[in-house]
Amino acid sequence: MSLCKRRGFIFQSAEIYGGFRSTYDYGPLGVNMLRNVKNAWWRSMVQLRDDVVGIDAAVLSPPRVWEVSGHLENFTDPLVDCRQCHSRWRADKLEGPCPSCGSTDFTEARPFNLMFKTHAGPVEDEGAVAYLRPETAQGMFVNFANVLQTTRKRPPFGIAQVGKSFRNEITPQNFVFRTREFEQMEMEFFVPPDEGPRWHEYWIGERYRWYVDLGMPPERLRLRPHQADELSHYSIATSDLEFRFPWGWDELEGIANRTDYDLRHHADASGVHLDYFDPATGERYVPHVIEPAAGATRTMMAFLLAAYDEDVVTGEARTVLRLHHRLAPYQVAVLPLSKKEQLELLAREVLHLCQPHFMCDYDATQSIGRRYRRHDEIGTPWCVTVDFDSLEDRAVTVRERDTTAQVRVPVDGLVAELRRRAEQG
Ligand code: GAP
Repeated sequence: MSLCKRRGFIFQSAEIYGGFRSTYDYGPLGVNMLRNVKNAWWRSMVQLRDDVVGIDAAVLSPPRVWEVSGHLENFTDPLVDCRQCHSRWRADKLEGPCPSCGSTDFTEARPFNLMFKTHAGPVEDEGAVAYLRPETAQGMFVNFANVLQTTRKRPPFGIAQVGKSFRNEITPQNFVFRTREFEQMEMEFFVPPDEGPRWHEYWIGERYRWYVDLGMPPERLRLRPHQADELSHYSIATSDLEFRFPWGWDELEGIANRTDYDLRHHADASGVHLDYFDPATGERYVPHVIEPAAGATRTMMAFLLAAYDEDVVTGEARTVLRLHHRLAPYQVAVLPLSKKEQLELLAREVLHLCQPHFMCDYDATQSIGRRYRRHDEIGTPWCVTVDFDSLEDRAVTVRERDTTAQVRVPVDGLVAELRRRAEQG
């Protein structure tokens, strides 16, 4: 958390006013990394497939959507009040005594709906009620017919979305792990009803692989199938992909078999057909849905935790973020050895060569050793140093973050060399 603040990954929201309840802002490095997490997900889930398309649905939605989806009735956590100090807690996360005052005297648990309610338009009456979405998923279900008609996709196919969701969590905690405003990366995969279990297994495997391919150590990941009493109201089977956080194993992503629960309810309530006619078999059916649902902000935190390391190089202790180059806030740092005009001219030329291909930082202040340390600490995989020899031989030094190995590369071949390294990793 201290590194996140010190280096500009994540700041407390409205900090100059004392902060705003578990709400966070992403700084210059954090916004790059969060974008990289979302792009890596989009690349794997949409770009590299021909059976998934994307959408970007509205955050504000009318009560009917949430009534029919079951969220108005079921999207609740059990809330208790401490009778001593009147603080409020989530009953299922309490371990006996009140964390504020130690009392064990609580009220009966009652359901607390997690959705944020607001009013759309200038009149604050019941007719103007709207909700901020607590999951992006409903945007895919209510657009099912639109997507089917406009894309010519046929089951099995998926609709993906990345965006903000909002939950009025009773006890947000653990930095950006559980916040009231967060980002999700969700995909609804529509399949013939009898193929649900097979596709569920498939997506569990795919999603596990995504984290590992981006450098997540397998020993910090595990799969945990839900017990029957933990399942969401729409799911018949869910497996959580869990990460070993500093406080123990906790959820990163849920992969659920939502069956035809959502499409069937929305079709019944709206009167619009949300089914598929298969011309090959002459059958009409409501597809079943397999849903890998991840949190972008939570995933970014897990990648930061997994990447954090401290080691000693050439007798000096350093902090290093061993982030995959696809996730690092900057892939390349261009560092002129001194601020001499001629060096800076060449360094800027190198920067402009690299910028169309990589997110780059340009850093000309402090000693070169301190600049290397700074870039180790923010996870930059490659530092490119321009020195006085560079003026003679038009070559630069590429330093690799993890090994600190340095090689000399001609300026004209630099982009190709960095791209080669990126493709290897
Ligand atoms: N559409 C299904 C769904 O929303 P979920 O398990 O409630 O399922 C999916 O949420 C993911 O969204 C979680 O695994 C987590 O990564 C993220 N998430 C949920 N609530 C969150 C919160 N309050 N803060 C940060 N991330 C959250």
